Amino acid sequence: MNAVNAVVRTIINSLREARRVVVLTGAGVSAESGVPTFRDKQTGLWEHFDAAQLATPSAFQRDPALVWGWYEWRRATVLAAQPNAGHRALAAMADHVPQFTLITQNVDDLHERAGSPHVLHLHGELARPYCEACRRSYVFPIRAPKLPPGGARIEPPCCEVCGARIRPGVVWFGEALPELTWLAAREAAKQCDVFLCCGTSALVQPAASLTHVAIDGGAVTVQVNPNPTDLDTSVTAAIRGTSGTVLPQLVAETWGVK
Ligand code: APR
Repeated sequence: MNAVNAVVRTIINSLREARRVVVLTGAGVSAESGVPTFRDKQTGLWEHFDAAQLATPSAFQRDPALVWGWYEWRRATVLAAQPNAGHRALAAMADHVPQFTLITQNVDDLHERAGSPHVLHLHGELARPYCEACRRSYVFPIRAPKLPPGGARIEPPCCEVCGARIRPGVVWFGEALPELTWLAAREAAKQCDVFLCCGTSALVQPAASLTHVAIDGGAVTVQVNPNPTDLDTSVTAAIRGTSGTVLPQLVAETWGVK
């Protein structure tokens, strides 16, 4: 058996024996569904903007219509997208592990639509905007937004109760993560036997620190990414490939299911 096979065998055995498995996903997991990642070049109205510059409280204060329009465009993209084989493999994995925790940095709902319940959304959700002032939830109209292909500026709606501006339900750069979600994610990472980190550049903190929490806790750690990241040398195994290809293979090899 060569070294690569030996590592894959270790992962498969660890998954079979694990009582607690944690998976952390990032934008790369939704890439094969046609949802652009954060480091992809933007298109349309947004081509001259960096995603990281639009996803801030100050960008929303400065130009609410630009930022709300960007999130509506992203919401429309997600509504038109379907979960891919990677999302489905993670939903299937939950059926084979006594305690399975899925943590995502993604603000889309593709994990849920693939059948994963109780997803810990560290960075909020596109579908859950709320009032800037009184924090009441805002319910989107049932119809998907009709937008030109490149997107459009859109004024954010107002709260029906207090009249203040509605903001996207996501965590922006510089904002705190939802506390209970973060505590649950950290605890799961601390206690797990196997930790899989899929489709994330591992650049954004504190989410990226979860892999190190798992390493410090003695877990077998696996990264799935077609590109190198800073985690390559820290994890037990860095598998180079897309989540839509690697995750179904891993589930099939480990539990003999498709
Ligand atoms: N399968 C797996 N990984 C992929 C795929 C794929 N098909 N395609 C791309 N990737 C990888 C890229 O190589 C990259 O490492 O996904 C990663 C995407 O990185 P980012 O765009 O930085 O996404 P993410 O890590 O989720 O970003 C973290 O940053 O902007 C904030 O809040 C935002 O949640 C986001 C956070």
